[in-house]
Amino acid sequence: LIAFFQPKALAGKRLLITAGPTFEAIDPVRGITNLSSGKMGFAIARAAQEAGAEVTLVAGPVALDTPRHVRRIDVKSALQMHDAVLPLAAAHDVFVATAAVADWRPASSAGEKIKKDGSGQVPAIAFTENPDILAAVARLPQPPYCVGFAAESHDLARHAREKRLRKGVPLIVGNLGPATFGRDDNTLLLVDDAGERELPTADKLSLARALVAEIATRLAASTP
Ligand code: CTP
Ligand code: CA
Repeated sequence: LIAFFQPKALAGKRLLITAGPTFEAIDPVRGITNLSSGKMGFAIARAAQEAGAEVTLVAGPVALDTPRHVRRIDVKSALQMHDAVLPLAAAHDVFVATAAVADWRPASSAGEKIKKDGSGQVPAIAFTENPDILAAVARLPQPPYCVGFAAESHDLARHAREKRLRKGVPLIVGNLGPATFGRDDNTLLLVDDAGERELPTADKLSLARALVAEIATRLAASTP
């Protein structure tokens, strides 16, 4: 009952979020992808909606239910995710990029299934780099408050600090993978211009709520 009368941290704000992996087709039956369950992103979408935000969730291929009252747009590839996000971004107050976007896609995708020719020869697959969705949003003339994620296998704080500067975003959230992939709990490291702060190990929904509160505070401080 008390919660009902408390002003919600993101009331009246619009939050756009990417989640899950992307899938880059090699042919109609094969492709390359990243390891990502989408759980953290879906938990943040839910927590932001509960905090009063109007939430748009752009999701790669995941096996998760849509959180209540969240608008969901399903995509497969990084290019589709980019093309879904960019036109929407300027109309949002916050952009949270949790997706594990494939950094490369096959330079061309075969229209038909590639068959083995019996000789033992393997196909040569050339790759091309995918657009950086987060960096593209951060470069908009009036960008939303941008939050990036960094899953690193080592030197988390250093990589997160570097990534924050390289992408030109105010906040990077680091976690050590692949230990946390697909798990229900996680530990997050928040890196912004004030320094570093750890959100201690908890289940992903509790962490998502804590992160949403941190974002709301920073958003309030960054908007006049
Ligand atoms: N990201 C994105 N578009 C891409 C690649 C990454 O939006 N094409 C976003 C991710 O959603 C994440 C952040 O950028 O929020 C960092 O992603 P990460 O893969 O850790 O960084 P990269 O810049 O791709 O560097 P690397 O993979 O080499 O560590
Ligand atoms: Ca990457």
